[in-house]
Amino acid sequence: MGRRAGSAQQEGIFSDMVAATGSTEREGWSSRSAFILAAIGAAVGLGNVWRFPTLAGENGGGAFVLFYVACVFLLGLPLVISEIFLGRTGQDDAVGSIRKVAERSGASKNWSAFGVMGVVAAFLIVSFYSVVAGWVLYYVGVMGADFASAVLSGDPLRGALVGQSQEAIQGRMGDLFGNPGLLLAMHFAFMGVTLFIVARGIGSGIETAATILMPMFFVLLVGITIYGAFVGNMGDAVAFLFTPDWSKLDPPAMNTALGQALFSLSLGVAGLITYGSYIKGPAGLGPTSVTIAFADTGVALLAGLMIFPIVFAVGLDPAAGPTLVFQTLPFAFQTMPAGALIGLLFFLLILVAAVTSSISLLEVPTAWGIGEMGWSRLTSSLVFGGGAFLVGIACLLGYNVWSEVRPLGFWSLFAEKDILDTVDDFTGKIMLPLGAFFTAVFVGWRADRKLVQEMTGLSGFWLSTWRFLIAWLCPLAVGTILITGLFPQVLGS
Ligand code: TRP
Repeated sequence: MGRRAGSAQQEGIFSDMVAATGSTEREGWSSRSAFILAAIGAAVGLGNVWRFPTLAGENGGGAFVLFYVACVFLLGLPLVISEIFLGRTGQDDAVGSIRKVAERSGASKNWSAFGVMGVVAAFLIVSFYSVVAGWVLYYVGVMGADFASAVLSGDPLRGALVGQSQEAIQGRMGDLFGNPGLLLAMHFAFMGVTLFIVARGIGSGIETAATILMPMFFVLLVGITIYGAFVGNMGDAVAFLFTPDWSKLDPPAMNTALGQALFSLSLGVAGLITYGSYIKGPAGLGPTSVTIAFADTGVALLAGLMIFPIVFAVGLDPAAGPTLVFQTLPFAFQTMPAGALIGLLFFLLILVAAVTSSISLLEVPTAWGIGEMGWSRLTSSLVFGGGAFLVGIACLLGYNVWSEVRPLGFWSLFAEKDILDTVDDFTGKIMLPLGAFFTAVFVGWRADRKLVQEMTGLSGFWLSTWRFLIAWLCPLAVGTILITGLFPQVLGS
């Protein structure tokens, strides 16, 4: 960094770059594997360890899981390649990257509008993501205190929260939701960490965090899964997750699976455009994208294999819904050997996954502020981190003081939704598929074919397969999710 080019010729290239990008030294990943790790960190998050098991449980397991995996590889993977292509080629924030690819393809600059929508969506998602991660932080505190008291009482391997009734354990979540001050403190702490990492920049912030946290995450995930295989009911869990009962795969479940595949791979809101723009090296996006998709899906499935054996061992309900992780599991840990310790590690694992995702979300608007508004990284991350913190406050007040508020109550789709669910559904059901749709149409139909081939590094069979998927299957399938999501009557639900 900061090394000036020596020879006259290099000087020329240097000033061309300055003229083209408006800055002397745009940040970048230190290596391709650093990018892959950060992108896996972005993909692996609450979506994998909280939402995926919840949805698989609610939608009857097997058939949903298999359909989800098909969505990841047929729709998600082509989109991952496309988003990274846009960023890698544009070398700018999401909006600037799309604009540059449009210019080089002779297409209208107005295509960058879907980048603007992505920036807004990422900002909104991080606002409620931080609130949910705050709940996780609270449970880290609860389990941490419990484990500390287990250690102090000389029985570190005891179960979790011993002596507390099931009602008391499950009631904790209600207590938390009824306590705006506590929710606010947790949200503040989590957003603070996110902001701190993003403000430090790509190399010493995001890349460093991913390099430390992702290995930690994998060790915890594999460790707890092995633990569950010994003390839990792995047989039932495998049967539940992988034996398809196709009658349970109705259109609403398919719709959910598609939406979850997009969310889990961090697609549709310019996240991978932004991360991809920090790749400096040569192209070759196929293997890189396959690695990200495999890792993300592998983690979701492992998370299922970590959680369900424990749930089944104590005969609890796999279809408990969003409270599965927060209410069902802490109770299950009560009767498990070393439950206090494993419970603490379990929530730490979710927290770690959430951090590496929330930083990717905050980076999208932050990069936009730097690239389009000319702000410094510090200013930009403070503006958007602070803004998302405020929107998050509205979300958390929706559980108590503003529990009657239905922000989009006039719209039948959102009539029943509190503030957090409204933001979650509006981004997830509308903005995210819309962003994915425009990405597919733009890259599949408008982007210069030579440029695409050169920058993705795809050729032959894989190029034609990818082209078919991105130009035809993705727009059709994602368009279907969008329409059926907006008009659920179509699906008869
Ligand atoms: N993929 C993350 C998860 O599963 C969430 C996430 C991070 C995300 N970055 C994103 C979702 C960008 C959509 C877009 O938890």
